Amino acid sequence: MQAKIVVLAGDGIGPEVTAEARKILDVIGEKFGHTFIYDEQLMGGCAIDATGSSLPDETLAACEQADAILLGAVGGPKWDNPSAADRPERGLLALRKALTLFANLRPVKLHPHLVGASTLKPEVLEGVDLLVIRELTGGLYFGPRQEAGEAGYEAYDTMLYTRPEIERVVRLAADAAMQRSKRLASVDKFNVLASGRLWRRTANDVLADYPELTVEHVLVDAMSMHLIRRPADFDVVVSGNMFGDILTDEASMLAGSMGMLPSASLGDIHNSYDLPLGLYEPIHGSAPDIAGQSMANPLATILSAAMLLRHSLGLETEAAAVEAAVDAVLNEGVRTRDIAHTGTEEVTTQVMGDLVADKLTAN
Ligand code: IPM
Ligand code: MG
Repeated sequence: MQAKIVVLAGDGIGPEVTAEARKILDVIGEKFGHTFIYDEQLMGGCAIDATGSSLPDETLAACEQADAILLGAVGGPKWDNPSAADRPERGLLALRKALTLFANLRPVKLHPHLVGASTLKPEVLEGVDLLVIRELTGGLYFGPRQEAGEAGYEAYDTMLYTRPEIERVVRLAADAAMQRSKRLASVDKFNVLASGRLWRRTANDVLADYPELTVEHVLVDAMSMHLIRRPADFDVVVSGNMFGDILTDEASMLAGSMGMLPSASLGDIHNSYDLPLGLYEPIHGSAPDIAGQSMANPLATILSAAMLLRHSLGLETEAAAVEAAVDAVLNEGVRTRDIAHTGTEEVTTQVMGDLVADKLTAN
């Protein structure tokens, strides 16, 4: 296969972690006879610096033409002025919206050898294997809003959802649950928010088509508690945009580090292989404090590349090979700083990438 992958390295540690993911994709290409053509484009703070826009037209056009998009991270203190006309994060949100990437898949799995890297007790972590599906193009992130401006007094954001927006993401989550353990938790704030009541009514209507699923509706505040008290009781979790953002940062602690969690954002647009044109990114941010120091964990981005192979290119064997290589390296006790603990060997971003590449070549 020949696939066109737009790479948005972005800011902070973005370029370092995407470089390692490309390394892995190259090994996959060589091993399985595929050609991946990379198109490096600007998005985020680096794009503001170079072009004045966080999402330049050229970048969006390249993304629309691609088979898949691999993203590092965007943002940093340099662009954190609240009065700035454009922000790195705006580019990311505009890209998600423009490509209607309404479903953000965030699998949370704990590698058995990383139990010691988590702040939670081993018995709580036993059996954690979640798939959080976050609605990504609606809700509080995109509803009507008013900025207060420099001397402003009042500002607001609106959690607006329409029925079709809820239906499509809940349906996707229900389909995913059917492929897994047939358990689905739908998260809302039904007791307080009007949009929460629409969410729950709509979810129930959609889920009537899935009699085999065991469904539970969970309030978001309770869910934040359950996630650290009994995370293994959940399988597929679906939620709105803002709640999903918060819950997945929390859930990342179940996996030991933000540096371990990949994500895939999918929508209705199909690529030249008639598969979803997806955006693949680690859930972590640009970590400006450690940028350029070869300390970042590239595994979340490497695992995002595995999701890219699976969802946008239909290469399940190749995706599983990447995941197995990551497991094998972790089994050997090799760690980047974020997941290092006594008895493990600390390596740089690049060495971690090399070791995963070596495993792939050897197997
Ligand atoms: C994420 C991030 C983004 C979000 C930021 C960088 C805009 O936190 O992907 O979870 O809030 O969606
Ligand atoms: Mg987030």
